[in-house]
Amino acid sequence: MSTSNKVEGTAEARAGANFALIKYWGKADARLNVPAVGSISITLDALWSETKVVLDPKLTADEFSLNGRTRSEEQGKVSACLDLLRARAKVKTRARITSRNNFPTGAGLASSASGFAALVTAGAGALGLDLSPRESSIAARQGSGSAARSVFGGFVEMHAGTAPDGLDSFAEPLLDAAAWPLEVVIAVTATGEKEVGSSSGMTRSAKSSPYYPAWVENQPADLATARAAIEARDFAALADIAEHNCLKMHAAAIAAQPPLVYWNGATVECLHAVRKLRAAGVPVFFTIDAGPQVKAVCTPGARSQVEAALRSVPGVLELLTSRLGPGAELF
Ligand code: PMV
Repeated sequence: MSTSNKVEGTAEARAGANFALIKYWGKADARLNVPAVGSISITLDALWSETKVVLDPKLTADEFSLNGRTRSEEQGKVSACLDLLRARAKVKTRARITSRNNFPTGAGLASSASGFAALVTAGAGALGLDLSPRESSIAARQGSGSAARSVFGGFVEMHAGTAPDGLDSFAEPLLDAAAWPLEVVIAVTATGEKEVGSSSGMTRSAKSSPYYPAWVENQPADLATARAAIEARDFAALADIAEHNCLKMHAAAIAAQPPLVYWNGATVECLHAVRKLRAAGVPVFFTIDAGPQVKAVCTPGARSQVEAALRSVPGVLELLTSRLGPGAELF
């Protein structure tokens, strides 16, 4: 088949954000965006990105806008991700890409995960490509490592893989959202985009943190513990390993030079509030990504108590809540 310049197609997709319970932090191959470690996450239904891809033969370059604003800073990554799909479809046509997030962008709330999962799903739809979920996950990974997980709903595991071409570095579903319907209360402690993005934070940690090798070395054991806890629906076991893994990721980042301290004072107070609740018998645990927001994962019955506790922490600006949700879908 020859490469065509004349294809017109339109598709729109929605993908939920996801939060890792066992974190991805570090790259084995920066060019292919292959992670140094596997990870396990939950996909959310209330925080999502919607992305529309319109192929237009009249365009000489892709046009990308997010929340109604042209975003030249992300244009290159978006085009590179679509290029993977265009190469596969043997099509050169450029696209108009409009995306919106229904939650704060770039503030440690996984907007790149939902964004690239929605982009790959809509892009494949517009190009008429029938990708398998695994192929979508591999393509989304090249936009953002965590996006490989937002292709799927519920509990998801990302395999780091070992193949030099990155073809065994993809996510897979572990358990449906309905099979263990946990909920998440997000304490927003700062608005605005983070100072050091996750990719540069990972590179800096790998280069300069004395704790980074230990972080990588311990990850397979944490993945196995979390996988078993999810399979057994063992909340206490999942809580212990998720908090431990999150604090190890931050310990490795804090020990980088210059240090990566993603937390503010309210982040730390929320962490204590969650630990205090759990000590009192409330099924809840925290996780924190490359930003100051605290995500409290709990059972549905514990949600109102968790909300009340986090709302009373000074410095908490807003609470967002979500159930677990489905994977990326065309609509
Ligand atoms: O997918 P990225 O490049 O935004 O990195 C995600 C990094 C963390 O959110 C901190 C951890 C994770 O596994 O999602």
